[in-house]
Amino acid sequence: MEQASQRAILAAQPIEWTRSGVVVLDQRQLPEHEVRNTYTDYKHVARAIRDMEIRGAPAIGVAAAMGAAIGVQRSLARTLDELRAEFETICAELAATRPTAVDLFWAISRMRAVFVQACQAALVRSALAPSLDDIRSAMVHEAQLVHREKREHDLAIGCHGASLLPRSGRVMTQCNAGALATAGIGTALGVIRMAVFEGHDLEVFVPETRPYLQGARLTAWELQQAGIPLKLITDNMVGHCLKTEDIAAIVVGADRIAANGDTANKIGTYQMAVLAREHGVAFYVAAPVSTLDLSLPSGDAIPIEERSPEEVTHVRGVRVAPDVPVAHPAFDVTPSQFITAIITERGIARSPYTDSLEKLAGK
Ligand code: MRU
Repeated sequence: MEQASQRAILAAQPIEWTRSGVVVLDQRQLPEHEVRNTYTDYKHVARAIRDMEIRGAPAIGVAAAMGAAIGVQRSLARTLDELRAEFETICAELAATRPTAVDLFWAISRMRAVFVQACQAALVRSALAPSLDDIRSAMVHEAQLVHREKREHDLAIGCHGASLLPRSGRVMTQCNAGALATAGIGTALGVIRMAVFEGHDLEVFVPETRPYLQGARLTAWELQQAGIPLKLITDNMVGHCLKTEDIAAIVVGADRIAANGDTANKIGTYQMAVLAREHGVAFYVAAPVSTLDLSLPSGDAIPIEERSPEEVTHVRGVRVAPDVPVAHPAFDVTPSQFITAIITERGIARSPYTDSLEKLAGK
Protein backbone atom coordinates (compact mmCIF):
# COMPACT_ATOMS: atom_id res chain seq x y z
CA MET A 1 0.00 0.00 0.00
CA GLU A 2 2.78 2.38 1.02
CA GLN A 3 4.72 1.55 -2.16
CA ALA A 4 1.64 2.21 -4.31
CA SER A 5 1.14 5.66 -2.80
CA GLN A 6 4.83 6.53 -3.21
CA ARG A 7 4.67 5.56 -6.86
CA ALA A 8 2.02 8.28 -7.30
CA ILE A 9 4.61 11.02 -6.86
CA LEU A 10 7.43 9.44 -8.87
CA ALA A 11 7.56 11.07 -12.29
CA ALA A 12 9.59 10.97 -15.50
CA GLN A 13 11.47 14.21 -16.03
CA PRO A 14 11.07 16.09 -19.34
CA ILE A 15 14.28 18.12 -19.06
CA GLU A 16 17.61 17.93 -17.23
CA TRP A 17 20.72 20.07 -17.09
CA THR A 18 23.76 17.80 -17.46
CA ARG A 19 27.48 18.25 -18.10
CA SER A 20 26.90 17.19 -21.71
CA GLY A 21 24.12 19.69 -22.31
CA VAL A 22 20.37 20.12 -21.95
CA VAL A 23 18.70 16.71 -22.10
CA VAL A 24 15.12 16.83 -23.40
CA LEU A 25 12.64 13.95 -23.42
CA ASP A 26 11.04 14.08 -26.87
CA GLN A 27 7.34 14.23 -25.98
CA ARG A 28 6.32 13.97 -29.63
CA GLN A 29 7.37 10.33 -29.55
CA LEU A 30 5.51 9.36 -26.39
CA PRO A 31 4.03 6.99 -25.47
CA GLU A 32 5.57 4.69 -28.08
CA HIS A 33 9.21 5.70 -27.66
CA GLU A 34 11.14 7.25 -24.77
CA VAL A 35 13.81 9.20 -26.66
CA ARG A 36 16.07 11.78 -25.04
CA ASN A 37 18.04 14.35 -27.04
CA THR A 38 21.03 16.30 -25.75
CA TYR A 39 21.39 19.91 -26.88
CA THR A 40 24.44 22.13 -26.60
CA ASP A 41 23.13 24.86 -28.89
CA TYR A 42 20.43 27.25 -27.65
CA LYS A 43 18.92 27.27 -31.15
CA HIS A 44 18.13 23.60 -30.73
CA VAL A 45 16.52 24.24 -27.36
CA ALA A 46 14.40 26.98 -28.99
CA ARG A 47 13.45 24.54 -31.75
CA ALA A 48 12.54 21.90 -29.15
CA ILE A 49 10.09 24.37 -27.57
CA ARG A 50 8.63 25.51 -30.91
CA ASP A 51 8.20 21.95 -32.22
CA MET A 52 6.58 20.64 -29.00
CA GLU A 53 9.43 18.32 -28.12
CA ILE A 54 9.02 19.95 -24.72
CA ARG A 55 5.71 21.61 -23.89
CA GLY A 56 3.53 22.70 -20.98
CA ALA A 57 3.88 26.18 -19.50
CA PRO A 58 6.26 25.62 -16.55
CA ALA A 59 8.43 23.15 -18.52
CA ILE A 60 8.69 25.68 -21.35
CA GLY A 61 9.91 28.18 -18.73
CA VAL A 62 12.57 25.75 -17.49
CA ALA A 63 13.62 25.03 -21.08
CA ALA A 64 13.90 28.76 -21.84
CA ALA A 65 16.05 29.29 -18.73
CA MET A 66 18.31 26.38 -19.71
CA GLY A 67 18.36 27.60 -23.33
CA ALA A 68 19.55 31.03 -22.21
CA ALA A 69 22.16 29.42 -19.93
CA ILE A 70 23.53 27.05 -22.57
CA GLY A 71 23.60 29.90 -25.08
CA VAL A 72 25.81 31.97 -22.79
CA GLN A 73 27.84 29.00 -21.57
CA ARG A 74 28.71 27.85 -25.09
CA SER A 75 29.07 31.34 -26.58
CA LEU A 76 32.34 32.03 -28.41
CA ALA A 77 32.19 35.73 -27.47
CA ARG A 78 35.54 37.13 -26.38
CA THR A 79 34.41 40.48 -25.03
CA LEU A 80 31.60 41.61 -22.78
CA ASP A 81 30.06 43.61 -25.61
CA GLU A 82 30.05 40.58 -27.88
CA LEU A 83 28.45 38.47 -25.15
CA ARG A 84 25.79 41.12 -24.47
CA ALA A 85 24.88 41.30 -28.15
CA GLU A 86 24.69 37.52 -28.40
CA PHE A 87 22.54 37.32 -25.28
CA GLU A 88 19.98 39.66 -26.87
CA THR A 89 19.78 37.35 -29.91
CA ILE A 90 19.39 34.31 -27.66
CA CYS A 91 16.53 35.95 -25.72
CA ALA A 92 14.78 37.10 -28.90
CA GLU A 93 14.94 33.61 -30.43
CA LEU A 94 13.66 31.92 -27.29
CA ALA A 95 10.85 34.49 -26.90
CA ALA A 96 9.67 33.90 -30.48
CA THR A 97 8.98 30.19 -29.92
CA ARG A 98 5.44 30.14 -28.46
CA PRO A 99 3.20 33.09 -27.53
CA THR A 100 0.67 31.99 -24.91
CA ALA A 101 2.52 30.46 -21.95
CA VAL A 102 3.74 33.38 -19.88
CA ASP A 103 6.28 31.21 -18.04
CA LEU A 104 8.43 31.46 -21.17
CA PHE A 105 8.67 35.25 -20.87
CA TRP A 106 8.90 35.08 -17.08
CA ALA A 107 11.95 32.77 -17.38
CA ILE A 108 13.63 34.93 -20.01
CA SER A 109 13.21 38.08 -17.96
CA ARG A 110 14.55 36.30 -14.85
CA MET A 111 17.61 35.10 -16.80
CA ARG A 112 18.05 38.62 -18.20
CA ALA A 113 18.09 40.12 -14.70
CA VAL A 114 20.77 37.64 -13.62
CA PHE A 115 22.78 38.29 -16.78
CA VAL A 116 22.73 42.06 -16.23
CA GLN A 117 23.69 41.64 -12.59
CA ALA A 118 26.51 39.21 -13.46
CA CYS A 119 27.86 41.61 -16.11
CA GLN A 120 27.91 44.44 -13.58
CA ALA A 121 29.62 42.27 -10.98
CA ALA A 122 32.24 41.19 -13.53
CA LEU A 123 32.90 44.83 -14.40
CA VAL A 124 33.21 45.80 -10.75
CA ARG A 125 35.76 43.00 -10.23
CA SER A 126 37.77 44.04 -13.27
CA ALA A 127 36.68 46.90 -15.51
CA LEU A 128 39.48 46.20 -17.99
CA ALA A 129 39.08 42.44 -18.26
CA PRO A 130 35.67 41.32 -16.92
CA SER A 131 35.51 37.55 -16.52
CA LEU A 132 33.04 36.04 -18.96
CA ASP A 133 33.40 32.72 -17.15
CA ASP A 134 31.84 34.22 -14.02
CA ILE A 135 28.86 35.34 -16.10
CA ARG A 136 28.57 31.90 -17.66
CA SER A 137 28.58 30.25 -14.21
CA ALA A 138 25.93 32.65 -12.91
CA MET A 139 23.63 31.77 -15.82
CA VAL A 140 24.04 28.03 -15.38
CA HIS A 141 23.45 28.35 -11.64
CA GLU A 142 20.26 30.36 -12.21
CA ALA A 143 18.84 27.91 -14.76
CA GLN A 144 19.37 25.06 -12.30
CA LEU A 145 17.72 27.15 -9.58
CA VAL A 146 14.67 27.79 -11.80
CA HIS A 147 14.38 24.03 -12.31
CA ARG A 148 14.74 23.26 -8.61
CA GLU A 149 12.17 25.90 -7.66
CA LYS A 150 9.67 24.54 -10.19
CA ARG A 151 9.96 21.12 -8.59
CA GLU A 152 9.43 22.58 -5.12
CA HIS A 153 6.47 24.68 -6.31
CA ASP A 154 4.77 21.61 -7.77
CA LEU A 155 5.04 19.84 -4.41
CA ALA A 156 3.55 22.86 -2.63
CA ILE A 157 0.73 23.14 -5.20
CA GLY A 158 0.05 19.44 -4.70
CA CYS A 159 -0.09 19.81 -0.92
CA HIS A 160 -2.43 22.82 -1.07
CA GLY A 161 -4.70 21.24 -3.66
CA ALA A 162 -4.95 17.64 -2.41
CA SER A 163 -7.39 18.52 0.36
CA LEU A 164 -9.82 19.96 -2.21
CA LEU A 165 -10.27 16.54 -3.81
CA PRO A 166 -12.63 13.86 -2.46
CA ARG A 167 -11.22 11.09 -0.23
CA SER A 168 -12.74 8.69 -2.71
CA GLY A 169 -14.23 9.41 -6.11
CA ARG A 170 -13.68 10.59 -9.65
CA VAL A 171 -11.94 13.65 -11.00
CA MET A 172 -11.28 14.95 -14.51
CA THR A 173 -8.39 16.87 -16.05
CA GLN A 174 -7.57 18.32 -19.46
CA CYS A 175 -4.50 18.15 -21.70
CA ASN A 176 -1.33 17.29 -19.77
CA ALA A 177 -0.52 19.40 -16.75
CA GLY A 178 1.67 16.69 -15.31
CA ALA A 179 5.36 16.13 -14.71
CA LEU A 180 5.96 16.24 -18.45
CA ALA A 181 4.55 19.76 -18.54
CA THR A 182 6.28 21.19 -15.48
CA ALA A 183 9.55 19.36 -14.76
CA GLY A 184 8.29 18.55 -11.25
CA ILE A 185 5.31 16.32 -10.34
CA GLY A 186 2.89 18.46 -12.33
CA THR A 187 0.39 21.15 -11.40
CA ALA A 188 -3.07 19.67 -12.04
CA LEU A 189 -1.64 16.15 -12.00
CA GLY A 190 0.54 17.20 -9.09
CA VAL A 191 -2.61 17.85 -7.07
CA ILE A 192 -4.00 14.46 -8.09
CA ARG A 193 -0.67 12.68 -7.49
CA MET A 194 -0.34 14.26 -4.04
CA ALA A 195 -3.93 13.37 -3.11
CA VAL A 196 -3.28 9.73 -4.05
CA PHE A 197 0.02 9.85 -2.13
CA GLU A 198 -1.98 11.03 0.89
CA GLY A 199 -4.34 8.08 0.57
CA HIS A 200 -7.21 9.38 -1.58
CA ASP A 201 -8.81 6.73 -3.73
CA LEU A 202 -9.25 8.49 -7.09
CA GLU A 203 -10.08 7.61 -10.65
CA VAL A 204 -9.10 10.21 -13.25
CA PHE A 205 -11.13 10.87 -16.40
CA VAL A 206 -8.72 11.94 -19.14
CA PRO A 207 -10.08 13.61 -22.31
CA GLU A 208 -7.79 12.80 -25.23
CA THR A 209 -7.31 16.51 -26.02
CA ARG A 210 -7.43 16.74 -29.79
CA PRO A 211 -5.72 17.79 -31.93
CA TYR A 212 -2.34 17.16 -30.30
CA LEU A 213 -3.57 14.37 -28.02
CA GLN A 214 -1.69 15.44 -24.91
CA GLY A 215 -4.37 13.71 -22.81
CA ALA A 216 -4.27 10.40 -24.65
CA ARG A 217 -0.53 10.26 -25.25
CA LEU A 218 0.94 12.00 -22.23
CA THR A 219 -1.51 12.18 -19.31
CA ALA A 220 -2.67 8.59 -19.82
CA TRP A 221 0.98 7.49 -19.94
CA GLU A 222 1.91 9.48 -16.85
CA LEU A 223 -1.02 8.23 -14.78
CA GLN A 224 -0.42 4.66 -15.87
CA GLN A 225 3.22 4.91 -14.82
CA ALA A 226 2.16 6.43 -11.50
CA GLY A 227 -0.28 3.57 -10.91
CA ILE A 228 -3.26 5.95 -10.68
CA PRO A 229 -6.53 4.52 -12.07
CA LEU A 230 -7.78 6.38 -15.14
CA LYS A 231 -10.35 6.28 -17.88
CA LEU A 232 -9.48 7.74 -21.27
CA ILE A 233 -12.37 9.46 -23.06
CA THR A 234 -12.69 11.40 -26.31
CA ASP A 235 -13.23 15.14 -26.00
CA ASN A 236 -16.86 14.95 -27.04
CA MET A 237 -17.67 12.67 -24.07
CA VAL A 238 -16.95 15.35 -21.46
CA GLY A 239 -20.54 16.62 -21.07
CA HIS A 240 -21.99 13.13 -20.93
CA CYS A 241 -19.45 12.00 -18.34
CA LEU A 242 -20.04 15.06 -16.16
CA LYS A 243 -23.76 14.25 -16.27
CA THR A 244 -23.55 10.52 -15.64
CA GLU A 245 -20.26 9.54 -13.98
CA ASP A 246 -20.48 11.31 -10.62
CA ILE A 247 -17.32 13.36 -11.16
CA ALA A 248 -16.49 15.40 -8.06
CA ALA A 249 -13.99 17.89 -9.47
CA ILE A 250 -12.06 19.02 -12.53
CA VAL A 251 -8.43 20.10 -12.10
CA VAL A 252 -6.58 21.76 -14.98
CA GLY A 253 -3.30 23.63 -15.44
CA ALA A 254 -2.84 27.10 -16.94
CA ASP A 255 -0.71 28.83 -19.53
CA ARG A 256 -1.49 32.37 -18.41
CA ILE A 257 -3.76 33.80 -15.72
CA ALA A 258 -4.87 37.45 -16.00
CA ALA A 259 -5.31 39.77 -13.02
CA ASN A 260 -9.05 39.02 -12.80
CA GLY A 261 -8.45 35.24 -12.79
CA ASP A 262 -9.41 34.60 -16.42
CA THR A 263 -7.30 31.60 -17.38
CA ALA A 264 -5.81 30.53 -20.70
CA ASN A 265 -5.30 26.79 -20.95
CA LYS A 266 -5.44 24.10 -23.63
CA ILE A 267 -8.30 24.43 -26.10
CA GLY A 268 -11.36 22.68 -24.70
CA THR A 269 -10.86 23.87 -21.13
CA TYR A 270 -13.49 26.62 -21.46
CA GLN A 271 -16.27 24.26 -22.50
CA MET A 272 -15.36 21.93 -19.63
CA ALA A 273 -15.66 24.79 -17.14
CA VAL A 274 -19.08 25.83 -18.46
CA LEU A 275 -20.27 22.22 -18.33
CA ALA A 276 -18.86 21.84 -14.83
CA ARG A 277 -20.95 24.81 -13.68
CA GLU A 278 -24.07 23.32 -15.25
CA HIS A 279 -23.49 20.03 -13.40
CA GLY A 280 -22.39 21.50 -10.07
CA VAL A 281 -18.83 20.14 -10.40
CA ALA A 282 -15.97 22.08 -8.77
CA PHE A 283 -13.52 23.50 -11.36
CA TYR A 284 -9.97 24.09 -10.11
CA VAL A 285 -6.98 25.68 -11.85
CA ALA A 286 -3.54 24.66 -10.52
CA ALA A 287 -0.56 26.79 -11.53
CA PRO A 288 2.58 28.41 -10.10
CA VAL A 289 2.67 32.15 -9.39
CA SER A 290 4.97 32.49 -12.43
CA THR A 291 1.89 31.77 -14.59
CA LEU A 292 0.13 34.91 -13.29
CA ASP A 293 0.26 37.84 -15.66
CA LEU A 294 -1.11 40.67 -13.54
CA SER A 295 -0.19 43.18 -16.26
CA LEU A 296 -3.28 41.97 -18.14
CA PRO A 297 -6.56 43.09 -16.56
CA SER A 298 -8.56 40.28 -18.17
CA GLY A 299 -8.17 37.23 -20.40
CA ASP A 300 -9.21 39.22 -23.49
CA ALA A 301 -5.61 40.41 -23.86
CA ILE A 302 -3.99 36.96 -23.68
CA PRO A 303 -2.41 36.06 -27.05
CA ILE A 304 -3.77 32.76 -28.35
CA GLU A 305 -1.39 30.61 -30.37
CA GLU A 306 -2.74 29.50 -33.74
CA ARG A 307 -1.07 26.25 -34.78
CA SER A 308 -0.72 24.55 -38.14
CA PRO A 309 -3.83 23.19 -39.95
CA GLU A 310 -2.08 19.82 -40.42
CA GLU A 311 -2.45 19.11 -36.71
CA VAL A 312 -6.24 19.21 -37.23
CA THR A 313 -6.52 17.53 -40.63
CA HIS A 314 -4.08 14.77 -39.65
CA VAL A 315 -3.77 12.42 -36.67
CA ARG A 316 -0.22 11.22 -36.07
CA GLY A 317 0.64 11.83 -39.74
CA VAL A 318 -2.51 10.21 -41.18
CA ARG A 319 -4.97 12.48 -43.01
CA VAL A 320 -8.47 12.28 -41.48
CA ALA A 321 -10.10 15.26 -43.27
CA PRO A 322 -10.15 16.64 -46.81
CA ASP A 323 -8.07 19.66 -47.70
CA VAL A 324 -10.43 22.32 -46.28
CA PRO A 325 -10.04 25.58 -44.34
CA VAL A 326 -9.13 24.89 -40.70
CA ALA A 327 -9.23 26.82 -37.43
CA HIS A 328 -6.66 25.82 -34.87
CA PRO A 329 -6.51 27.99 -31.75
CA ALA A 330 -4.30 25.97 -29.40
CA PHE A 331 -5.71 27.58 -26.23
CA ASP A 332 -8.91 29.13 -24.94
CA VAL A 333 -9.70 31.45 -22.06
CA THR A 334 -11.97 30.39 -19.21
CA PRO A 335 -13.64 33.40 -17.59
CA SER A 336 -12.89 33.47 -13.86
CA GLN A 337 -16.59 33.26 -12.94
CA PHE A 338 -16.40 29.54 -13.82
CA ILE A 339 -13.33 28.88 -11.66
CA THR A 340 -13.97 27.60 -8.13
CA ALA A 341 -10.39 28.27 -6.97
CA ILE A 342 -6.85 28.79 -8.25
CA ILE A 343 -4.28 26.63 -6.47
CA THR A 344 -0.73 28.04 -6.32
CA GLU A 345 2.42 27.17 -4.37
CA ARG A 346 1.66 30.12 -2.06
CA GLY A 347 -1.90 29.08 -1.28
CA ILE A 348 -5.38 28.99 -2.74
CA ALA A 349 -6.99 32.02 -4.37
CA ARG A 350 -10.76 32.43 -4.58
CA SER A 351 -13.05 35.07 -6.04
CA PRO A 352 -12.68 38.06 -6.14
CA TYR A 353 -9.46 37.09 -7.91
CA THR A 354 -8.27 40.62 -8.52
CA ASP A 355 -7.68 40.86 -4.75
CA SER A 356 -6.69 37.29 -3.94
CA LEU A 357 -4.20 36.91 -6.82
CA GLU A 358 -2.59 40.27 -6.09
CA LYS A 359 -2.11 39.20 -2.47
CA LEU A 360 -0.52 35.87 -3.50
CA ALA A 361 1.74 37.56 -6.05
CA GLY A 362 2.94 40.05 -3.41
CA LYS A 363 3.76 37.40 -0.78
O1 MRU B 1 0.35 23.13 -26.12
P1 MRU B 1 0.84 22.60 -24.82
O2 MRU B 1 0.92 21.12 -24.77
O3 MRU B 1 2.11 23.28 -24.38
O4 MRU B 1 -0.28 23.03 -23.80
C1 MRU B 1 -0.18 22.66 -22.46
C2 MRU B 1 -1.33 23.08 -21.64
O5 MRU B 1 -2.27 23.70 -22.10
C3 MRU B 1 -1.24 22.78 -20.19
O6 MRU B 1 -2.49 22.48 -19.66
C4 MRU B 1 -0.68 24.02 -19.49
O7 MRU B 1 0.51 24.41 -20.10
C5 MRU B 1 -0.46 23.80 -18.08
S1 MRU B 1 0.95 22.78 -17.85
C6 MRU B 1 1.19 22.54 -16.22
